[in-house]
Amino acid sequence: MSDLKTVYPVPEAFARDALIDKARYDEMYARSINDPDGFWAEQARALDWIRPWDRVKNTDFTGDVSIRWFEGGQINIAQNCLDRHEATRGTKTAIIWEPDDPKAPGRRISYSELAAEVRRFANVLKAQGVAKGDRVTIYLPMVPEAAVAMLACARIGAVHSVVFAGFSPDSLSGRITDCGSTVLITADEGLRGGRKVPLKVNADKALDHCPDVTAVVVVRHTGGDIAMKDGRDIWWHEAMADVSDDCPAEPMDAEDPLFILYTSGSTGKPKGVLHTTAGYLLYAALTHKYVFDIKDDDVYWCTADVGWVTGHSYILYGPLANGATTLMFEGVPTWPDAGRHWEVVDKYGVTIYYTAPTAIRALMREGEAPVKRSSRKSLRLLGSVGEPINPEAWRWYYDVVGDGRCPITDTWWQTETGGLMIAPLPGATDLKPGSATLPLFGVKPVIVDNEGTPLEGACEGNLCIADSWPGQMRSVYGDHERFAQTYFSTFPGMYFTGDGCRRDADGYYWITGRVDDVINVSGHRMGTAEVESALVAHPKVAEAAVVGYPHELKGQGIYAYVTLKSGETPSEALRKELVAWVRNEIGPIATPDLIQWAPGLPKTRSGKIMRRILRKIAANEHEGLGDTSTLADPSVVEDLVGNRMNGN
Ligand code: WT7
Repeated sequence: MSDLKTVYPVPEAFARDALIDKARYDEMYARSINDPDGFWAEQARALDWIRPWDRVKNTDFTGDVSIRWFEGGQINIAQNCLDRHEATRGTKTAIIWEPDDPKAPGRRISYSELAAEVRRFANVLKAQGVAKGDRVTIYLPMVPEAAVAMLACARIGAVHSVVFAGFSPDSLSGRITDCGSTVLITADEGLRGGRKVPLKVNADKALDHCPDVTAVVVVRHTGGDIAMKDGRDIWWHEAMADVSDDCPAEPMDAEDPLFILYTSGSTGKPKGVLHTTAGYLLYAALTHKYVFDIKDDDVYWCTADVGWVTGHSYILYGPLANGATTLMFEGVPTWPDAGRHWEVVDKYGVTIYYTAPTAIRALMREGEAPVKRSSRKSLRLLGSVGEPINPEAWRWYYDVVGDGRCPITDTWWQTETGGLMIAPLPGATDLKPGSATLPLFGVKPVIVDNEGTPLEGACEGNLCIADSWPGQMRSVYGDHERFAQTYFSTFPGMYFTGDGCRRDADGYYWITGRVDDVINVSGHRMGTAEVESALVAHPKVAEAAVVGYPHELKGQGIYAYVTLKSGETPSEALRKELVAWVRNEIGPIATPDLIQWAPGLPKTRSGKIMRRILRKIAANEHEGLGDTSTLADPSVVEDLVGNRMNGN
């Protein structure tokens, strides 16, 4: 192991043509911190404004917490992502769409075509009564209509809330109700890895609980047989057939809401993360351009789903704002086989490929053969996002996928941050496998101990951000107090990320994972409290405690300790039933990997479940259980250790 390289210098060939080299990064970073107003004003001139701003930054992390950027400015995001490019790159491909089935025809949509479709769909939304400020829920698979729908909302100032197509009817209805949407956009069915996802059926179940939804626009995708409700449901293609493609872009105030995206926290229901207009767009565009070193002839592929923030900022808004060609892939990396991604890379000459460690680990397990079957000569840059990447997967990605030629940009950020926060610039930053490296422009990371004291130099602690950046979330939809409480009260005056982090002697950041009750399953966030409430909703369950544990492929797996009601007996059948129950309540991403029957849970004398102990048992680290003498009944720990489940 000792001869493994730990630092990968910027390849000379890459540095020569890169947008930003080391000296320029240092200079721009210093300016962004010392003179944020000047720095961001300069960067913002790259966008098309309807009205210039009066004030660049007006932010306060104390008290009620108020975050405003570019006040007085007016801008439209769809205009910036589409119309602006029509004159110079109207015929350039904006979106390449690759379907799930490798034999089915894909689509190439030019900037002009996309602009026209967006204007038409904007008129469809208007015809359904959607006006500026109204919320529109989007529950679509990875089809171009998802991009069209999102941009059409942005064009008329409606606020979109995209719900990942893997979520259950219950999760969908909860999100529709929380933001008060009256219009839903969905499809007959989705397709993933050759399997159909019953989206319209799910939507119908969800809408039983959403009386305020008056219109459902349905994309015909698989042609599957579905029910259409008279007076409520309309087909996308029919509605699009008789509208004009003329639709002016609504002038939006810089701080008008753009979208809501629900994400799990350590307590309660998922929060509606609210992002606004100008600052978000600027931050998504700028980070996309510099971190991915975007040139006009790049073919850029981010493998995320539009249902997550990565899809919002780095499939859609960032790339289109930069006039790039962005690839949307409907399928999964391992179907029909583990060579699929590399076939797609060769088919379209992908130059930049951005994926998640969980996908890399899954492909790594299949060996080199499926990779080596492809050329991948077009690739010049690789990216990683979603969770810490283990150095073994990093090196495989670098050596096998990138043939030792392509830098890897490991990007740390969150739904809340809107865009990348800590990541290498490929022409400027030497890489260390497993480290997201250095902060991006305007980002001031601070590592604090549990008392909130900032630590200097090499250290480890809780990761906070000291000051605002333009892409930051502005509020929790409908609950600003929860926003201030969740992110700004633990370490007053700072934004707390919920992540643990180490800084090494070179100033490089190493994210160590969540320090709250959020687990990261395959790069997706799951609140333990959500899984617990799904479990206790089952009639046979008395109590449940859920923790994460190390999982070879997923990064973290979901480990549930379940206490049954008295009179109920544990069985394999019941275990399966509970797993299916949780999938049905939340969605497949919440599937418990392991369920351990717990006659009792370790609690303090005041009745608080001691998760620290449950986490250690799940991770098979019971040597270090620490002091259990404060437990109400220390014997439950022995039982739990003795009956621990073995994962992976
Ligand atoms: C959490 C945010 C926005 C990215 C997609 C997930 C973890 C994300 C990294 C990385 C280490 C990472 C953090 C963060 N995370 N990227 N490159 N290295 N950890 O977005 O669902 O909002 O989750 O994902 O723990 O807090 P999300």
